Amino acid sequence: MGQNVLHDLTGKTAVITGGAGSIGSATAKLFLEHGASVVLVDRDADALAHITDSLKSSGQIASYVADVSDEKQTAGYIDYTVSRFGSIDVLFSNAGNFGIVRNIEDYPLDVFQSVLNVNVTGAFLAAKYAVPHMTRGGSIIITSSVAGLRGDPGVYGYITAKHALTGLMRVLSKELAPHGIRVNTINPGPVDNQFQANVETDLSKIIQRDATEFFNEIIPMGRHASPYEIAKSVYYLASDLSAFTTGITLSVDGGMSV
Ligand SMILES: NC(=O)c1ccc[n+]([C@@H]2O[C@H](COP(=O)([O-])OP(=O)(O)OC[C@H]3O[C@@H](n4cnc5c(N)ncnc54)[C@H](O)[C@@H]3O)[C@@H](O)[C@H]2O)c1
Repeated sequence: MGQNVLHDLTGKTAVITGGAGSIGSATAKLFLEHGASVVLVDRDADALAHITDSLKSSGQIASYVADVSDEKQTAGYIDYTVSRFGSIDVLFSNAGNFGIVRNIEDYPLDVFQSVLNVNVTGAFLAAKYAVPHMTRGGSIIITSSVAGLRGDPGVYGYITAKHALTGLMRVLSKELAPHGIRVNTINPGPVDNQFQANVETDLSKIIQRDATEFFNEIIPMGRHASPYEIAKSVYYLASDLSAFTTGITLSVDGGMSV
């Protein structure tokens, strides 16, 4: 760890929202193993405490309980990070919720708004409060999805939100490029974890067949990703390996978006 300058995150501080979750915690582990200090942010206090504890042996880690869609709480986790570690070099805006799948006439407004609040407002607020503390060499990675690159019936909140993140990323990437801060989205396909399992349980009822099999059939590589596979691509965008890459949507989906 730390010997290869391209891979090294020593001395860097990373904030990871949705840090108690599957992709967030897999990424935290990889960042810690490569020398970064990490602050995990999540609204699930119990899960956050558990994950933070389990990662303590991997490096410098701290946590902060916050709802990313709340402006004051966002200011809180950013201030905490800066006071604890002094700077922010990597912002991984990754917290997300899915909502439900319904025909347009049955899709509830409050669910639609809640999905936009967490995914889009959350990423907007994270950038708004983190950017003033970021300097040249910084990297912002926003978790969109294959759902940010295609439409599917009934997935109103999630697909709208994940597309919106491309817009947010593009605006940020142009504004921050002159300051040497890169901004990209990661666009995972279905991941083998509980978040996706919940989606597939609901979807199976709607399409009246096994949704896990359905996805595997439309993924050219024929399977779901592991959280670690997503984390490795986030790490690429966070590190100097991607020093001249900004403004892109990086698909990590076994070819599903092709
Ligand atoms: N699992 C997949 O197949 C898949 C595919 C593409 C994209 N994604 C995206 O990846 C990201 C991470 O998801 P995951 O698969 O690790 O699921 P996960 O449920 O394991 O992790 C999501 C985390 O976000 C947290 N969270 C939700 N709302 C929050 C809020 N308002 N404030 C703070 N934290 C909040 C949850 O508590 C949870 O710990 C999400 O943005 C999701 O949309 C997931």
